[in-house]
Amino acid sequence: MNAAPVPATHREVHLAARPEGPLTTDHFRLVEAPVPVAGPRRILVRNRLMGVTAVMRTLMAGNGELPMPGYAPGAVLSGPAVGEVISAPEGSLKRGDLVEHNAGWREYAVLGEDEAQRLDLEALPDPVAHLSQGFVAWLAVVRGAEIRAGDTVLVTGAAGGVGTMAGQFARLHGAARVIGSTSSRQKADRLTDRLGYDAAVIRSAGPIDDQLRALAPDGLDAVIDLVGGDQLRAALAQARQGARIALVGSLASQTAGSATAPVVIDTAHVLNRGITLRGIAGHAHLDALGQWTEEFGRGLRAGTLTVPHTLVHGIDRAPQALCDLLAGRHIGAVLIEL
Ligand SMILES: NC(=O)c1ccc[n+]([C@@H]2O[C@H](COP(=O)([O-])OP(=O)(O)OC[C@H]3O[C@@H](n4cnc5c(N)ncnc54)[C@H](OP(=O)(O)O)[C@@H]3O)[C@@H](O)[C@H]2O)c1
Repeated sequence: MNAAPVPATHREVHLAARPEGPLTTDHFRLVEAPVPVAGPRRILVRNRLMGVTAVMRTLMAGNGELPMPGYAPGAVLSGPAVGEVISAPEGSLKRGDLVEHNAGWREYAVLGEDEAQRLDLEALPDPVAHLSQGFVAWLAVVRGAEIRAGDTVLVTGAAGGVGTMAGQFARLHGAARVIGSTSSRQKADRLTDRLGYDAAVIRSAGPIDDQLRALAPDGLDAVIDLVGGDQLRAALAQARQGARIALVGSLASQTAGSATAPVVIDTAHVLNRGITLRGIAGHAHLDALGQWTEEFGRGLRAGTLTVPHTLVHGIDRAPQALCDLLAGRHIGAVLIEL
């Protein structure tokens, strides 16, 4: 990392207006603003990498039962980022350290020392891994769907940031057959050729129920659901006796801007088959961070795990990157390199 002088101004991405229909770049504004000045006991960070995630659509709408506040119109967006410390008071951090924090979507950020955590590159060897969606994917496998040896597993929304990691963790935890859902034949081929999936359901290729029945004729033991809606309903219909279903995301309604994700569930089917439905929210499982980091780091070093991702260059391209993510134009996690 170079030590270029700090400029007078930097760029931030603001929420221009709350989206009500499909997200477009008109909902964002790229603003040139003075670089913030670090006051006493604050650090100045130059952001290097920042995450683009589906949950931002919910935060832009300002709705949803999320553990963090929605974005305010006219204000800078935020999200997970990795930055380089430019200046810091005497303390645990020093100039040149790489830190992770939640003040992305801007080139420079001022933070309290407790708002930034030094990257432990021994634990997770690549800064990209620190911005992966691996933790919730792992939680879905271990605590949500409790995947075990021999399971036939369905991951809906398999080609995204969470789904590409969930398929890998499911396999590592013994799944015998891992099926993913995605939007196109091209993405389905990527899932099976490169991302460890055995088969894929394509939501544009006819009824999901028929495709699932053909791909899992003996039923599903476990489901990691990132989509909700019709895909969750079809997965439940195909769930076997004692199946475990982790509810992790709601892309079908989220990408359309809805804060709620209603699905009609046949409760007679659920109770007769002893199916477990379990909601998984990452913030409720922080006690597992150490265990996940250990397993994730070991897999990355051994080459048994990868972080599939798309790198986009430049903060000016971040708004389009989020629109593209929601429209299904990317595979894996989407990261902006600044
Ligand atoms: N519970 C938690 O703590 C937690 C943590 C992180 C993320 N999440 C949630 O997990 C979900 C996945 O997150 P992610 O970051 O991995 O997102 P993502 O999958 O990278 O998000 C975009 C994807 O959504 C899919 N999509 C778009 N419209 C859709 C529709 N109508 N029906 C079904 N899929 C559609 C597209 O994939 P295809 O083109 O492949 O269909 C697109 O690539 C999100 O709902 C997110 O909020 C939850």
